[in-house]
Amino acid sequence: MSHTIIMTGATRGFGRVAVEHILAGSPQARLVLLARGSAGDELASDLSRRGRSVTSIPADLLSLDSVRAAADEVGRRIDEGELPPLRGLVSNAGLLFTNDVTENPDGFEATFAVNVLANHVLIRRLQDRFESPSRIVITVSDAHFGDFRHNKGMMPGPSWKDPALLARISAFPKAETVTAGGIAYSTSKLAAIYLIHEYARRLPRGVDILGYNPGFVPGTGLNRDAGAAVQFVMRTIMPLMALTPLASTQQEAGRHFADVVLGLTPASSGSYVDRTREIRSSAESYDLDREQRLWTAVEDLTRPFTS
Ligand SMILES: NC(=O)c1ccc[n+]([C@@H]2O[C@H](COP(=O)([O-])OP(=O)(O)OC[C@H]3O[C@@H](n4cnc5c(N)ncnc54)[C@H](OP(=O)(O)O)[C@@H]3O)[C@@H](O)[C@H]2O)c1
Repeated sequence: MSHTIIMTGATRGFGRVAVEHILAGSPQARLVLLARGSAGDELASDLSRRGRSVTSIPADLLSLDSVRAAADEVGRRIDEGELPPLRGLVSNAGLLFTNDVTENPDGFEATFAVNVLANHVLIRRLQDRFESPSRIVITVSDAHFGDFRHNKGMMPGPSWKDPALLARISAFPKAETVTAGGIAYSTSKLAAIYLIHEYARRLPRGVDILGYNPGFVPGTGLNRDAGAAVQFVMRTIMPLMALTPLASTQQEAGRHFADVVLGLTPASSGSYVDRTREIRSSAESYDLDREQRLWTAVEDLTRPFTS
């Protein structure tokens, strides 16, 4: 039966690869890309020319107003019969900054705004539209483990704080540094996992939500905020990492991602899928008290955009 799947982060990186696999594996899906600039329209036109059912709605996830408008536009199109029932949300867009002092237009720290708050606004504005069975997949990261085994020292681990502080710039020491940007990133992914646990308790039966960890995927645009030297290493040396078990190629990460989105990878609601199988995320990431406090804080912070 025809159904709608919404996707962010489809325009580049392994998300772009996943799009092909999602469309191939679910020919009846209407894919709605939420993307900034002209990239979404260009990708939708390209895929439509190849006979795929894809449309694009502009959304800059750095602006929660833009996220709200995009979610409402999806809702309007469903109500007016332009789109079939909603059965999927793929929240793949994510950012990594080289500092913890970048602010979004709403006054939130930009990493937290895109990696956490934008997803929350999307889910909350669309939550009544999901029809059973639905699957929501949020791209998380093994950076949330914060240990050498998972990160090989490439990314600093998370540093949990009061969510009201995490949502603002300068939550971490030496906020102008690359290290502070890395801590903001891994902490935002830990926050995403906490919220996945809370959503899983709150969403109606039949609407599942999962976190997907692609592993380390060299060669994507994630490091584009970094200097030329880091980008050179990412492009030239890091792809060799894809030969180790720690890393995935963009092709592998995209294919595994699509399998999770399409329900081909079995996983229970609230779970963490590491590439191809459900595993337990870090011990720190199971904390009911933090999950509930984060939920309350995120609800307060995003209320102007969710109500
Ligand atoms: N690469 C890794 O090693 C790795 C590991 C674990 C998890 N992840 C996660 O995987 C996801 C995809 O990352 P990637 O590595 O494929 O990076 P990427 O190549 O930079 O792709 C990121 C995607 O998110 C979109 N995006 C970013 N900011 C946006 C905004 N403000 N509004 C709308 N769209 C926005 C980008 O669109 P634009 O083209 O407009 O920028 C792009 O499509 C992220 O959530 C990342 O945190 C990556």
